Amino acid sequence: MAKLKHNYDVLVVGSGAAGLTLALSLANNLRVAVLSKGELTAGSTWHAQGGIAAVLDDQDSVEDHVADTLVAGAGLCHEDSVRFTVERSKQAIQWLVDLGVSFTRVEDGSQFHLTKEGGHSHRRIIHSADATGMAVHSTLLDRVRGHKNLDTFDNRIAVDLLTRPNPGTGKVQCTGAYVYNRKSDAVETFQARAVILATGGASKVYLYSSNPDSASGDGIAMAWRAGCRVANMEFNQFHPTCLYHPKAGSFLITEALRGEGAHLKLPNGERFMERFDPRCELAPRDIVARAIDYEMKRLGSDCLYLDISHKPEAFINEHFPTVKARCLEFGIDITRQPIPVVPAAHYTCGGVVVNKRGQTDLDQLYAIGETSFTGLHGANRMASNSLLECIVYAQSAAEHIEATLASIPTPEPAPHWDDSRVTDSDEDVVISHNWDELRRFMWDYVGIVRTQKRLERATHRIKLLQKEIQEYYRNYKIGNDLIELRNLAMVAELIIRSAMQRKESRGLHYSLDYPDAAEETRDTILVPSNFAAQAVFVKRSPAPCPKE
Ligand code: FAD
Ligand code: SIN
Repeated sequence: MAKLKHNYDVLVVGSGAAGLTLALSLANNLRVAVLSKGELTAGSTWHAQGGIAAVLDDQDSVEDHVADTLVAGAGLCHEDSVRFTVERSKQAIQWLVDLGVSFTRVEDGSQFHLTKEGGHSHRRIIHSADATGMAVHSTLLDRVRGHKNLDTFDNRIAVDLLTRPNPGTGKVQCTGAYVYNRKSDAVETFQARAVILATGGASKVYLYSSNPDSASGDGIAMAWRAGCRVANMEFNQFHPTCLYHPKAGSFLITEALRGEGAHLKLPNGERFMERFDPRCELAPRDIVARAIDYEMKRLGSDCLYLDISHKPEAFINEHFPTVKARCLEFGIDITRQPIPVVPAAHYTCGGVVVNKRGQTDLDQLYAIGETSFTGLHGANRMASNSLLECIVYAQSAAEHIEATLASIPTPEPAPHWDDSRVTDSDEDVVISHNWDELRRFMWDYVGIVRTQKRLERATHRIKLLQKEIQEYYRNYKIGNDLIELRNLAMVAELIIRSAMQRKESRGLHYSLDYPDAAEETRDTILVPSNFAAQAVFVKRSPAPCPKE
């Protein structure tokens, strides 16, 4: 029988780029547990294609990378966070190279090949052909496996955080998490002196998404329930080009294709992006996704097309082997014909409010990677800045934990999970029905183009769903699907509430009722009713500013 109680120095919830970087950075001196709700490769990191943005070329500069990020972010990036991240980009890549990640080199091998993506004024995306995530993740996993201070737990889904008042600071302290073991069907207690949420994003809240199933916003929902603020949840990024095929599931066609010259085309073969933006196919993602959405609706078309077939076959084979192979499975030869594409939910720009150390509003609780809101992405994330953010903030949080953990006592044992008053579910259809309904109305009412009326409809729907899900959660034993549905509904509510508050169009939030950007720029910060902590930081927030 699996152990029910686990004690560590550090508990990392999530085994993607953010979680593993943090775990590896601490494991020489501390005992670390890493959880993944599926296999250790679950999560978006494994699927990342394009690469990692970093200032590596002599012709490029920190100033230019910062400036491009600020432009893509449409006035909402926190410049200090952007600078913090970009200044550390070279060192972050060097860390990965030292670990053994094999990035693509130019033909003579003298240097790394850098590709281009939307919004970047230079070639600055380091990559491993078109499967960068797999290259990074497998290297990190190789280092994690067998590390004497590091224990990994797959098929463990964190349900909720353990907290207690901290008399020393007057704040609330996180001491661990209740974790559902999907194999044994039991709830285990993990306790630690520092807890890190690295659970990725929430794009599965939408019907069509490029993300794997794990992206149900668990970390954001858990942090909110525990009393942390979340910010800018209305900015969900839609990737312009996912493969359109009934059997393809959620397969991304990397933006690097457009970076290397692929053209977007209408069904009649005509290019159209120049009508929307002078940067054409390399405009930031919000603009390209909206242009595709507009043309699809105008023409009543199920998809549009991305065409790279004018490039030499050898070039395509070398740079895009993964995309080529996957498309061939569906009878599409990208060296000869255009690829049918549609936009899909891709990245959660908002998240749990943190400072540059990854600290949340709760003592000893950190959030890193896509779960967090650092201020880097503003109203629209620039391509390939997210893996960079994962590495930089994970390392920064690790430094802070290493420097401070000695003074943090081991938490007192938490009570066992009590499920004595609940029974086995008698109607799982409640879960599957609500799951489908949620993701469909989020797509229809809170998608690429919004209106107040649609948002009001979504508000009405989410209230009903929340009530039904809460009732179900109170009465029946938990399982994976119920845990995820509860979190998806929570995150959907946060997205809708944030979207309702933004009475303008900016970046990824486009409203037909408010088509212009407001003069004043502000973050949307939601404060939970149990918010008891001193604020960590937030630009333009009424809450007091914290010490870094
Ligand atoms: P993830 O990699 O998503 O990992 C989340 C982890 O948390 C998983 O281990 C999961 O099992 C675990 N987890 C979640 N909930 C729980 C829970 N309740 N309990 C326990 N464990 C839990 N970004 C780039 O910069 N460049 C790219 O080229 C790029 N390409 C992309 C391509 C695709 C198809 C997708 C989907 C995303 C891409 N992105 C890219 C975005 C980037 O991959 C992600 O933002 C990044 O990988 C997120 O890393 P993470 O560590 O925060 O989370
Ligand atoms: C892609 O390869 O197009 C994805 C890049 C990203 O999401 O940053």
